[in-house]
Amino acid sequence: MLTPEEEAAQEHFDAVIADDSRIEPRDWMPEGYRKTLTRQISQHAHSEIIGMQPEANWITRAPSLKRKSILMAKVQDEAGHGLYLYSAAETLGTPRDVLTEQLISGKAKYSSIFNYPARSWADMGAIGWLVDGAAIVNQVPLCRASYGPYGRAMVRVCKEESFHQRQGFEILMELAAGTDSQKQMAQDAINRFYEPSLMMFGPPDGDSPNSQQTMKWKIKRFTNDDLRQRFVGMIAEQVKVLGLTLPDPELCFDEETGKWMHKDLNWAEFKAVIAGAGPCNAQRLQRRRDAHHEGAWVREAAAVYAEKMQQEAEVA
Ligand SMILES: [Fe+2]
Ligand SMILES: [Fe+2]
Repeated sequence: MLTPEEEAAQEHFDAVIADDSRIEPRDWMPEGYRKTLTRQISQHAHSEIIGMQPEANWITRAPSLKRKSILMAKVQDEAGHGLYLYSAAETLGTPRDVLTEQLISGKAKYSSIFNYPARSWADMGAIGWLVDGAAIVNQVPLCRASYGPYGRAMVRVCKEESFHQRQGFEILMELAAGTDSQKQMAQDAINRFYEPSLMMFGPPDGDSPNSQQTMKWKIKRFTNDDLRQRFVGMIAEQVKVLGLTLPDPELCFDEETGKWMHKDLNWAEFKAVIAGAGPCNAQRLQRRRDAHHEGAWVREAAAVYAEKMQQEAEVA
């Protein structure tokens, strides 16, 4: 049973959502809303941070100075995305060190795509085009998420993601216009990243029990399958510009439903990768643990400095 105050607070919350307005950190919100958002935003932050690894592996092997500086800027952007998102998650009441602990202990999830290896330079192209491309399709509607700090973080993130997607596409363009083996390398990268990038939208709607509630709360605006078919339609056109193909004989536009159809995806593999059995899960988490450990002195120094500043401010 709710007290009269809680009832009034719930009514206010419902009105804000119905009005397409925004909930801010100090506003009352149902516990389920707070929990769902904390989970979603922190998983998103973890994905940005873990997602730096497959590409960071290629910084030292980039084929030119120009490519190296572009890739460094891109990987650094992803670190920035992680930081905005951890800050947004913290406004819901869970401190950053708790969120980090959930990641490095293996308790928290992050996007399954980052547990696949980046095998060739062309993978930098396929990741930018497909992985950042899928992220954009997912995230543009999140710019209107009902929780203010999340929506605002997404606006900035999306601007940078579109640069990421274009740099990936441009890498593939250049390879596709190169020698036969370069073209083959680009095709091979697309073949490997196609299915995992489609799975980034999450399980099929029938198998995604929380979606309905997050849509009612106007955190999400479209279902997983809706976003997935939108993405597949977008890349089906773009791949023609590359003169390459998508590894999907069932890909077509259904005039009747107005939707793009694609092949069945391997959801057993998706579940296994999420559960920790992907080709790189152990390596990715170990790298994050090591980095966290190596950075301990920075956190300690920052905490001591903050304390000192606080004391000086109190004396003054
Ligand atoms: Fe990002
Ligand atoms: Fe990105």
